[in-house]
Amino acid sequence: MPDSPPSPESRPFLSWPSSTLHPSIDTRPREAGSSSTALQITRLPPNVSIRAPTKANVHLLKRINSLLLPVSYPENFYREILQNPESEALTRLAFYDEECVGGIRCRLETAAEYQAGLEKLDTTDIYGSSKILEAVADHKANGSGGRRNSEDNHPKRKVYIMTLAVLSPYRSLSIGSHLLDHILSIAAKEPTIDADLAYAHVWVSNDGALEFYRKQGFEVDSGPIVRNYYRRLEPRDARLVFRRITCTRS
Ligand SMILES: CC(C)(COP(=O)(O)OP(=O)(O)OC[C@H]1O[C@@H](n2cnc3c(N)ncnc32)[C@H](O)[C@@H]1OP(=O)(O)O)[C@@H](O)C(=O)NCCC(=O)NCCS
Repeated sequence: MPDSPPSPESRPFLSWPSSTLHPSIDTRPREAGSSSTALQITRLPPNVSIRAPTKANVHLLKRINSLLLPVSYPENFYREILQNPESEALTRLAFYDEECVGGIRCRLETAAEYQAGLEKLDTTDIYGSSKILEAVADHKANGSGGRRNSEDNHPKRKVYIMTLAVLSPYRSLSIGSHLLDHILSIAAKEPTIDADLAYAHVWVSNDGALEFYRKQGFEVDSGPIVRNYYRRLEPRDARLVFRRITCTRS
């Protein structure tokens, strides 16, 4: 971990796939119970903070995404964050001291939007597609967080992780895990979000990101392969990764 951030000139920004700078042996301390989503996450360095988007910082997400992601997003992707309270709640930026080094942006989908999206998937992996639907069905059958109440009578919404990225010199500091954990815990606690599933598309050759999602408790290997999802990458296919969200409201 750098004591101070590397100078901008020396930053080897890796675009895609994510770097494999990851240490093979984790010697960092685990903070028991630190994750609000029941996974243990390595403590963040003290000078790293996870912040909500504001008028003053939201443009920084665009810089991160355009450096690191293979999809370019239109202006309204960023403008909408502060216009829509749900998008604002499901967006976070990571700062190393006062520099923005990562971010996550999610969209809240109704069950109908999500279902329609799945039906449109160009996938030959029927088993995988049904698996993601089953995950939600199982969750409903088992009750939300072990409880069954009136909330389970209507279809819950889904959190779609649109972008998640951390600049390469700042990876393996658990910044990505904390960004994701913030979103999942908001989704679990916030009554206005009321979601039961988080999901994302990951490029099939992005082994680092697939491993990252596995570590975050996502179903990775049983999700469907979406054919021709990326226009600028070869292979063009994406893996759909997903994780149930358990309500933690009292
Ligand atoms: C995926 C990404 C966001 C992870 O960010 P990060 O801050 O390095 O992630 P973390 O430090 O929280 O990693 C958590 C765990 O994921 C796993 N992991 C993360 N990156 C990995 C990699 N490249 N290879 C293997 N495992 C990896 C590790 O097991 C790690 O746990 P550990 O440190 O306790 O061993 C980052 O690599 C990135 O921005 N990649 C480019 C963009 C991208 O691929 N986005 C995801 C697709 S939407």
